[in-house]
Amino acid sequence: MNPSDRHLRFGWWSLFTFLTLGVVLETLHGFKIGWYLDVDVEMRRLMFTLAHAHGTLLALVNIAAGLTLRLVKGFELSSGASRSLIWGSILLPAGFLLGGLIIHDGDPGLGVVLVPVGALLLLYGVGSAARSLSKVKS
Ligand code: HEM
Repeated sequence: MNPSDRHLRFGWWSLFTFLTLGVVLETLHGFKIGWYLDVDVEMRRLMFTLAHAHGTLLALVNIAAGLTLRLVKGFELSSGASRSLIWGSILLPAGFLLGGLIIHDGDPGLGVVLVPVGALLLLYGVGSAARSLSKVKS
């Protein structure tokens, strides 16, 4: 699959996934579920909200990457940069989600270690895109 198709396909499915998570959070509010809303588990709510917000916005970043690849002549993403962008967009929100599933005395669970890994992959992917775009002649 070419990189543009890959980012568009990933982006739209990821948007669907994280908007669904938004609907799940809304439902937890609607039914006043203590596992999510009680004051002593506020770290869980923070982690899930961060997963929803970051997952949604990173999905849009991938759609933007796919469209930029189609529309801007000369703009390229190496296979490594493209995969970093996608894996960063998976690992960062997954880390928030896992970190919130099991919490320890107000601290996020071990899964949160995926967050900095995802952040580094995203920095590499986005930095590569910015570098490639600044080389494009207008
Ligand atoms: C482009 C679409 C969306 C974006 C960028 C987005 C972004 C965000 C952000 C940044 C927050 C955190 C707000 C804060 O804590 O101050 C949030 C919270 C929330 N969002 Fe979304 N959202 C989107 C769509 C949706 C949809 C479709 C739903 C469900 C119908 C939804 C449900 C929620 C809920 C329930 C919260 C609050 C979670 C909580 O505090 O317990 N979101 N969203």
